[in-house]
Amino acid sequence: MMTMTLERTDLKPTTGVMLAATYNDYGSSEVLHVGLRPMPRRGQHQLLIEVHASSVNPIDYRMRRGELKGILPGGFPRTPGYDVAGVVAAAPADSTYVPGDRVVAFLDDRRGGALAEYAVCSPNVAAKLPSDIPFEVAAAIPLAGSTALQSLRDHGHLQSGQRVLINGASGGVGVFAVQIAKAMGANVDAVASANNETFCLELGADRFFNYRDVDFTELPERWDLIFDAAGKSDYFSVRKVLTDHGRYVTTEPDAFGILTTLLTWPLGKSGRAMLAKPNGADLRTLIEMYQKGELRVVIDSAYALSEAAAAHRRVETGVDRGKVVVVNHPETEFESRPE
Ligand SMILES: NC(=O)c1ccc[n+]([C@@H]2O[C@H](COP(=O)([O-])OP(=O)(O)OC[C@H]3O[C@@H](n4cnc5c(N)ncnc54)[C@H](OP(=O)(O)O)[C@@H]3O)[C@@H](O)[C@H]2O)c1
Repeated sequence: MMTMTLERTDLKPTTGVMLAATYNDYGSSEVLHVGLRPMPRRGQHQLLIEVHASSVNPIDYRMRRGELKGILPGGFPRTPGYDVAGVVAAAPADSTYVPGDRVVAFLDDRRGGALAEYAVCSPNVAAKLPSDIPFEVAAAIPLAGSTALQSLRDHGHLQSGQRVLINGASGGVGVFAVQIAKAMGANVDAVASANNETFCLELGADRFFNYRDVDFTELPERWDLIFDAAGKSDYFSVRKVLTDHGRYVTTEPDAFGILTTLLTWPLGKSGRAMLAKPNGADLRTLIEMYQKGELRVVIDSAYALSEAAAAHRRVETGVDRGKVVVVNHPETEFESRPE
């Protein structure tokens, strides 16, 4: 008897094309154009997601400018973005997803693909999204939230009662880091610009330093963990304010950061340049924290897909605080469009 495995493709569109923001050469945000593109090809073991919202991270404009062309795969045209929240349009028969499921995902294609109407990814970099979390809120979580969680828990080994300093506490990653560190029971010091002091304290930081007035590396203090979410410091300047077995984690995985990781791992005071990894289990952890009220998602501004270049510019020129989202199908009202 022949058995047939049916692909779950009920919601798969049939036109073969979609709207996407793409660029055909490295450059300023002007290279980013929204137009019709072929639908992404879903591999046998992948999900096809109808994207309702995505978000922009600094890596997107850094890749667009060509800053990372030696590290990440090249080739044009390319559609930026790693964060998606939406609805499953097609799923492998053996996955736990079916068409119509609400999901959030941290795309595992290193070329990205989120700023589009459809995206594909492996089921194990996605998580089911409860109906009480709007897509535009969920889309802000994957890359920045995973970076904060993995930095504090996996690289920083943060324990309850320890002292942590978060540099860049008001940004996309920092906002998650302050709240996750508090939820882990740490004593949290936040560093950002003066106009984000009240904001960081409201997020849960115990103390605040304005980086224009205070160089935390010169303070007579010791931290068990220094997480540089902004990637503005280096191990050798931070070393003196770490406790004897303190750890330094930075989001800047440049050649210096990688060398630091290799050279300092056996030392009492270690330094590490982290690279966030897509992981559905981490997304589930972050969703649970959100549902328990431990995690607030802060949206700086929201743009339509047709305004993808403006969304990139907003992140590139510096957000006030939190994340920039791109919304294809709004579930909530957003008024904030700084440009
Ligand atoms: N390795 C990885 O896997 C990974 C993952 C995610 C992000 N990243 C990198 O992490 C960095 C931050 O990402 P993000 O999304 O949080 O960016 P963001 O939203 O632009 O936030 C930047 C933060 O840095 C602060 N800042 C600016 N200048 C500073 C300085 N001189 N000293 C201390 N803080 C300063 C800003 O504070 P004010 O706004 O108050 O000035 C803000 O809090 C980017 O370079 C990004 O490429 C790496």
